[in-house]
Amino acid sequence: MEPAIDTAKPHTARIYDYFLGGKDNFEADRRTAERAMQSWPAVRAAARENRAFLGRAVRFLVAEAGIRQFLDIGTGLPSANNVHEVAQGLVPSCRVVYVDNDPIVLAHARALLTSSPEGKTAYIQADLREPEKILGDPVTRQTLDFTQPIALMLVAVLHFVPDEEQPRRIVDTLLGALPSGSYLAATHVTAEHDPATLAGAGHAYQERGLTGQIRTADEFAEVAFRGLEIVDPGLTLVSEWRPRGAGPRPMASEVNTYGGVARKP
Ligand SMILES: C[S@@+](CC[C@H](N)C(=O)[O-])C[C@H]1O[C@@H](n2cnc3c(N)ncnc32)[C@H](O)[C@@H]1O
Repeated sequence: MEPAIDTAKPHTARIYDYFLGGKDNFEADRRTAERAMQSWPAVRAAARENRAFLGRAVRFLVAEAGIRQFLDIGTGLPSANNVHEVAQGLVPSCRVVYVDNDPIVLAHARALLTSSPEGKTAYIQADLREPEKILGDPVTRQTLDFTQPIALMLVAVLHFVPDEEQPRRIVDTLLGALPSGSYLAATHVTAEHDPATLAGAGHAYQERGLTGQIRTADEFAEVAFRGLEIVDPGLTLVSEWRPRGAGPRPMASEVNTYGGVARKP
């Protein structure tokens, strides 16, 4: 039986969908999103920059790093440029396992399962905080070959895992299951460039029971990238990570989100 979708409480997947201009959100999500926007008016631009980073990271991983398999945890609602669309647009045989713990994402998962015939996509409802279950799920095992490099995608999800829930242990467990030559791509909200704005936005989430932890660049690096070889240009604002074109980019105090891609030695 599919888990019930609670429309009375805000959910991070639906709030993010609202920021991106999607339609799969409800009144409670929009109210929380609007509260966050009162404090962080540029949050929609930040969400778009985060999403654009995701696309560029997948493109890099396939075209330059030779990756053909992805484990994307905290997938979010289907949007423009889902991982398999970008990856299979370059190499149709790419395989993707999508993971999210929100039943709304499961309800829309069909749009994530439109694989090219040469490749494969799968979706599992599971929790990042239970990495062993994700790794042990038969769908994961049937879709991905753990003897070949895999890119672990943790894009805009680690800030929903506070230190009490041991995010470093979670990342270690996931990376520990992947062979040498695998990659991690991750992004994370930070308050370093505008503490007051982020405190207000964080409060909008917390007052509706959504927990998380905003981290500095050093804290994010420690949670996500310790022991890995970070690729150029290192850990940067998502908007500064291999930008395409020379157009103007938003200010750090608008983006407030770091990203990086790193290789497991
Ligand atoms: C801000 S969205 C990011 C979506 C997508 N990765 C992107 O960056 O465009 C965060 C997603 O992480 C999911 N999420 C939050 N905590 C999670 C957890 N503990 N386990 C699995 N998914 C989680 C939410 O349901 C939501 O869909």
